[in-house]
Amino acid sequence: MLTENLLLGVILSYLKIVGGSHLRGEIEVSGAKNAALPVMAASILTDEDVLLRRIPDISDVWIMADILRSLGAKVAFEGKGDMTINCSDISCVSPPYELVGKMNASFDVTGPLLARFGEAKVPLPGGCNLGSRPVDMHVEAFRILGAEVVCQHGFVHAKAKTLQGNKIRFRRISVGATKNAMMTAVKVDGITVLENAAMEPEIVDLAVFLNAMGARITGIGSNTIVIEGVKKLSGVSYEIIPDRILTGTYLAAAAVTGGSVTVIRTWPDFLESFISAMRSAGQKIICGKDYVKLEKTEKILPIEISSSPHPGFPTDLQPVITAMLTIAEGTSVVTENIFDRRFMYVDELRRLGASLSVSDRTCIIRGVPKLFGAPVKAHDIRAGGAIIAACLAAEGESTITGLEFIDRGHEKIESVLSDLGANIRRIG
Ligand code: UD1
Repeated sequence: MLTENLLLGVILSYLKIVGGSHLRGEIEVSGAKNAALPVMAASILTDEDVLLRRIPDISDVWIMADILRSLGAKVAFEGKGDMTINCSDISCVSPPYELVGKMNASFDVTGPLLARFGEAKVPLPGGCNLGSRPVDMHVEAFRILGAEVVCQHGFVHAKAKTLQGNKIRFRRISVGATKNAMMTAVKVDGITVLENAAMEPEIVDLAVFLNAMGARITGIGSNTIVIEGVKKLSGVSYEIIPDRILTGTYLAAAAVTGGSVTVIRTWPDFLESFISAMRSAGQKIICGKDYVKLEKTEKILPIEISSSPHPGFPTDLQPVITAMLTIAEGTSVVTENIFDRRFMYVDELRRLGASLSVSDRTCIIRGVPKLFGAPVKAHDIRAGGAIIAACLAAEGESTITGLEFIDRGHEKIESVLSDLGANIRRIG
């Protein structure tokens, strides 16, 4: 069955799932990957100690730690989600391609390096295969703040003797460009106004972290962010927000298995559009101050959803809700508006017996009564979550390869799901 996993005689790791168990119980979600990575990068802005709490134990975090170390920073994992970072000895402004090429968020170090050292030479980032991921708006923001930027030989090389606050209006909403512009502007002379900025909770968390370091950012959580540059940023102790994407992934996985799961130490406010979509799909969801509970329901109803920047439906939850809708009682329509190749995982759901057709940015999902186990593969992090959810619901055995993607964003996935009653094992 696993001949496809034999590579030069080496058996790759895979997950083996025997589907059919209803997920049940309570689970504490980890800190948010998409908040932890930029906060780690922003630690470059100070030469004092930074202590971060609730850092998820996932490979993207290890990569960001290695990127910071490659620049001369000291990064230590202290256990139980604590991490210390000290960037007083940074001696290099150019992280290696071998690391930056592994994930898109690597590019987050560009703004902080430019702001603190007046120079950053960073390879174009790599990462999940979701489609084109240009950085033109990041580059434009650096230029508006006064940097000279050359994009050549696969590198973005930004240099500035002095940087000056300015108005930056993004032509479209970009989480990445908002992060980099904000992390540069906190340390430049004068006031910077970011218009049409991203409002994602992880952007809010980054701004709150920067303010805790001594930055002066207002308009946090709105689409107009105002930043008054300061000369110095200080060390800080800071706890990362809960992971809203994992919260949604566990809830959708519970729904597709006909289970009942409570996610604790999470913030339901971050998930309004997702929870509203789940309720439209007939799911009973109860929200407390810091938990979300999905109660067992008999059926999943078809829905129409369309991903868009926050507070819209998150692109990162699009795959897992699509997986859930494969067994809805009717036809659902899911439209992806952020990434042009985000439906690559659909072929894997088809292997499990799902009926889906994709045309341009829209996926039509005709609900089937049942999915059946099969060998499948994750091509990106969130596709991985979706495929795991579908395999948990499928009758019989599935094997899932592509764990290098799953492990980038899911902390201890097999033990979390085993605790909820799933029959899942990591092999190899
Ligand atoms: C995006 C998602 C984010 C998600 C992350 C990982 C949005 C708005 N962003 O963030 O929620 O967590 O992926 O899956 O939902 N773009 C440009 N030029 C640029 C930068 C971006 O054209 O310089 C385009 C991108 O191709 C994309 C859109 O703008 O179509 C949004 O990109 P952006 O938000 O920057 O991507 P990420 O930061 O990766």
